Amino acid sequence: MTFQKINIQDFNINPFTAIGEDWMLITAGDQLKANTMTASWGGMGVLWNQNVVTVYVRPQRYTKEFIDSQDYFSLSFFQDYHKELRYLGNVSGRDIDKMNKAQLHITYLDGVPTFEEAKLVFIIQKIYQNTITPSGFIDNSLNQVNYPQKDYHIMYIGKIIDIYQKL
Ligand SMILES: Cc1cc2nc3c(=O)[nH]c(=O)nc-3n(C[C@H](O)[C@H](O)[C@H](O)COP(=O)(O)O)c2cc1C
Repeated sequence: MTFQKINIQDFNINPFTAIGEDWMLITAGDQLKANTMTASWGGMGVLWNQNVVTVYVRPQRYTKEFIDSQDYFSLSFFQDYHKELRYLGNVSGRDIDKMNKAQLHITYLDGVPTFEEAKLVFIIQKIYQNTITPSGFIDNSLNQVNYPQKDYHIMYIGKIIDIYQKL
């Protein structure tokens, strides 16, 4: 099966289960070197008249260096790869060649790294980033529970450039 570009009007997936339960990989880099990490927090919607996704990345993630050095990243969704995504979300590409270990194969769509095994891929252009700030919390219990190390997420808002699906 090969990837086919689909119109956003034909996109028909529940974002709450896709992101929160099935999880996704955030992947960034170039032809020479790329890295990926599992994410289960994020959103899809509309902002500034753009179709956007939002992802939240803690500052210590190795993947963050790749996101920051590129204009684009990908979000990849899978079927029946929970074991691999759990692994990729528990070890760092700083320490181990984790994509090879997980037996996922990098491929490039629009020049952006993703994986042959994905069933759905978003190609994303970064358009905004900022860091979650403690003073912004209205429910401060969420601040206490989620940030004991004060490692506040960097929020990236990205414009959806293309959606590819295995049909
Ligand atoms: C199910 C799951 C969801 C995760 N969601 C996020 C997330 O949304 N944001 C984040 O910064 N880290 C998240 N992580 C943690 C990173 O995936 C993990 O720290 C990973 O090892 C980072 O790899 P890297 O250092 O190679 O970038 C999640 C981990 C798992 C297992």
